[in-house]
Amino acid sequence: MRINKRLGVLGAEITDVNLNDNNTSLYIEIHHLLMEHQVLFFRDQDISYSSHKRLAESIGLVKPHPAYNTVENFPEISILESTADSPSKIECWHSDMTYSNKPPRGTVLRSRIIPEVGGDTLWSSMTAAFNGLSSSMQEMLKGLSAVHDFCHGFQETLSQPEGRKRLKLAIKENPPVTHPVINIHPMTKKLGIYVNMNVMGNEDFVVKVANSAGHTHLNVGEKTTVSWDVSDCRALDA
Ligand SMILES: [Fe+2]
Repeated sequence: MRINKRLGVLGAEITDVNLNDNNTSLYIEIHHLLMEHQVLFFRDQDISYSSHKRLAESIGLVKPHPAYNTVENFPEISILESTADSPSKIECWHSDMTYSNKPPRGTVLRSRIIPEVGGDTLWSSMTAAFNGLSSSMQEMLKGLSAVHDFCHGFQETLSQPEGRKRLKLAIKENPPVTHPVINIHPMTKKLGIYVNMNVMGNEDFVVKVANSAGHTHLNVGEKTTVSWDVSDCRALDA
């Protein structure tokens, strides 16, 4: 396995590895690298759904997304599509599934179909963004919490015919939940800004401050991207 650290504070491209090799020592190494680099880029990985699932399970408890279609026989694997008819509705900075009272620790993505141009995903380090704040701003944010609301995040879907019926169970299982604006990573113990503008629906002071801290203070070195190619695989530390 070769590790090519990217410029900036996060991200590493991992080569000379086969993610279809489902062995514990590989998963332990990947997990270690993920804690260090926060997002890992794997090229040319024609992984099976089983391998995809096992890799995710090696990072943490797999939590199916309640709103997206899933792969046949693999309810743990969501299908994320963005087309002209059905464009993505999550084009803003976010940690994943923060509307949950126990959000997942990470996400494993695999590309299947990519556009000729564009479609890149930006990844940011919320620990670096936090460290870049003034100490007075850090202290102020440490005392704040924000409400994350599934219904706010999926309001467009809920307004569609049958939308509320389709998501009835997801709504019931995910009532609004409060998370601290600054969280502590369970493994590295580093502090990071924990925001998700998709589901933070309360237009009050907390959201405005969290928005400001999470977005305007992101410097060039605190985010990275690698253009998608078919069969790319990405693992990220949420
Ligand atoms: Fe996401």
